[in-house]
Amino acid sequence: MRPVRIPDLREMKSKGTKISVLTAYDATMARLLDKAGIDVILVGDSVGMVVLGYDTTIPVTLDMIIHHTRAVTRGVSRALVVADMPFLSYQVAADEAIRNAGRLIQEGGAAAVKVEGGKPILEVVRRLTAYGVPVMGHLGLTPQSVHALGGFRQQARDEDSASLLLSDARALEEAGVFAIVLESIPSDVACKVTSSVGIPTIGIGAGPHCDGQVLVSYDALGLHDGSPVPSFVRQYAQLGEVIVDAAKTYIDDVRSGRFPAGSSGK
Ligand code: KIV
Repeated sequence: MRPVRIPDLREMKSKGTKISVLTAYDATMARLLDKAGIDVILVGDSVGMVVLGYDTTIPVTLDMIIHHTRAVTRGVSRALVVADMPFLSYQVAADEAIRNAGRLIQEGGAAAVKVEGGKPILEVVRRLTAYGVPVMGHLGLTPQSVHALGGFRQQARDEDSASLLLSDARALEEAGVFAIVLESIPSDVACKVTSSVGIPTIGIGAGPHCDGQVLVSYDALGLHDGSPVPSFVRQYAQLGEVIVDAAKTYIDDVRSGRFPAGSSGK
C-alpha cells in the first residue's frame, strides 16, 4: 500500500473522504494501527498522561517524544507519522524550534510536527514551513496551556472566543500549516472553521463536521485502569479488562501449576 503523504490529506478534504487519526507511542501499537489502515498516527505528548502516569502533558520532554517517535516509525509502513512538539520546545525562539523539529524528523523519523496555539506561534510556523518542515496546528483546548485555561474544559464557548479561534485558524493556514487539530470546542464552531479553511481540520471532542477525527488510542481501545475518559470518546474495545482477566488467569495457572504444562506432573 502506498504511504500516506501530506498532500493526500488536502485531497481527502476536497473529496470529502474523512481522515482517521489515532495516537501511538510504541512500535507494536503503531504496527497494529497501521495494519488496520489508519491514515495518520500522532505521537502525542498525551504519552505523558496515558503511558508515563503524569497528570498533564507538561512534563514531557523533547527526548521522550523522540524516543517514542523512533519506536512508532519502526512499526509503520503506510500511515503518516506526526510528532508532537512538547511544551516550550517551540515557543522560546524560532531557531530553537527549527532545531527541535529537525530532531523529531531526523532522529525520530516523523514526517511532520504538531504545535499548539494560534497567533503567538505564527512566526515559528512560518519559519518551520519555510525550511520544509510540515506543521500541524492545534487550537481549542490546548493541553500544554492547561493551567492558564483553568483545566481540561471546552473552549470557544462564547462569540468572542469562537471568532478568535476562527481567526487563529485562518492565520495558521496562511502561515503554512497543512492541517489543524480542533480539540474540545462546540460542534458549530468546528463546522465554521472547517468550511472557512482550505486545509483539513481534525476534530477531537469537536463534533462530526471536521474533515477527520483523532482519538487517544488508549481511550478508544479502553486500555486503562478504569480511570475516566472524556465524554466525547467512543470506546471500541475494553482492552484494560481483557488484560486484567488474562493476567488473573495466568496468575491462577502459575499458582495451581497449570502453567507451564507439566509443572505439576499433569
Ligand atoms: O497529545 C495528543 O495526543 C494530542 C491529541 C489529543 C490531539 O494532542
